[in-house]
Amino acid sequence: MEGVTDKKSFQTTFQDSDVVIESPGRINLIGEHLDYNGGQVLPAAINLKVRLNFKKNGTRKCNCYSKNYDNHFEIDLDKVEISEKEWHNYFLGVVHFIVQAHPNKIKGFDCIVESDLPIGSGISSSAALECGFAKGLDALFSIGLSDDELVTISRDAEHHFVGTKCGIMDQFAVVKGKKGKLIRLDCNDLSFQYIPANIEPYSIVLLNTNVSHNLATSEYNLRRQECDEALIAIQEKYPEYDVLAHVPEVKAKEFESILPFKIFDRLLYVVQENARTIAASEALETGNLEAFGQKLFESHEGLKNLYKVSCGELDFLVDFAQEYKGVIGSRMMGGGFGGCTINLVHKDRMDSFITEAALAYNLKFNIRLSSFTVAIGDGVKRIK
Ligand code: GLA
Repeated sequence: MEGVTDKKSFQTTFQDSDVVIESPGRINLIGEHLDYNGGQVLPAAINLKVRLNFKKNGTRKCNCYSKNYDNHFEIDLDKVEISEKEWHNYFLGVVHFIVQAHPNKIKGFDCIVESDLPIGSGISSSAALECGFAKGLDALFSIGLSDDELVTISRDAEHHFVGTKCGIMDQFAVVKGKKGKLIRLDCNDLSFQYIPANIEPYSIVLLNTNVSHNLATSEYNLRRQECDEALIAIQEKYPEYDVLAHVPEVKAKEFESILPFKIFDRLLYVVQENARTIAASEALETGNLEAFGQKLFESHEGLKNLYKVSCGELDFLVDFAQEYKGVIGSRMMGGGFGGCTINLVHKDRMDSFITEAALAYNLKFNIRLSSFTVAIGDGVKRIK
């Protein structure tokens, strides 16, 4: 059979797939920019998803069609190289790293992707796509990838093909997510626990700024370098610290006059955010939701003033939430420079909060605000 080449045949493939995968986006309650610093994070998979349909096509070509972009491209299995088009690289990277670890397993296939996850909104549409694509190829060709391999293959695709030197949190949450549970993940040794997301009578509301400032990737990679610089300085005096997140705040403060101003701010953010995340998890487990929410506000302050990854649109929404009765916590979520804020909102105040935030936001920026009330769902899974 020939590989599909036009939209009509893609529709046929869609109805007659060999494998269908659903792969979720993720939220992160607290612990931002800590995964690549060996810190604690508190993510979960959500009920918004990417759906991928796969069918073998008996050739050496792979045809990938994105319903959202209404666009398709072809991968030649004998020539898998980085493309100039960013969205191709998610697929190319995954194929490359699977072939590297498991040669000769992947043959020609057609794949259709359809996504509920808005790109650049900080809910990790990219990890959802990479992990879903890897899981689909695993099922289609009986490769036998472990969960850990799914995570690392997707992360490596992001590092080497897409160019974001991300941490492990997004891929981990997409693969390991569990309905109703937050994942308390220690990014230093990847040990984790599921903790019940007992946040009643509050709900998780995401407000999407619908902006994605294009410095996101370059500034993200720069933050990693700045953190590495801070760690090198710390290790000269305290070689026992392997990761920045483990440095106690009192010791970090000894470096205030030694490190460049900017680097010291990054360091201070990381050590404070790690302590905040630990305190926030404890507050959640003891049912102290107000204290938990307060940590989200504090996290935003740090991201804005010390780590400097926020932007005017995100700050406006967090300020709005902080003033709004019934909201106990709010902060920017994900890499920053746009995307969503995550808000803990009392159920009775949810509709009015969303409506009034949208009005105020539109008045200020003349941009439409979108919102999602998310439920915590399962990780990537095969549904056919
Ligand atoms: C992006 C990256 C993650 C993580 C967050 C910030 O989502 O992909 O690895 O660093 O930003 O917490």
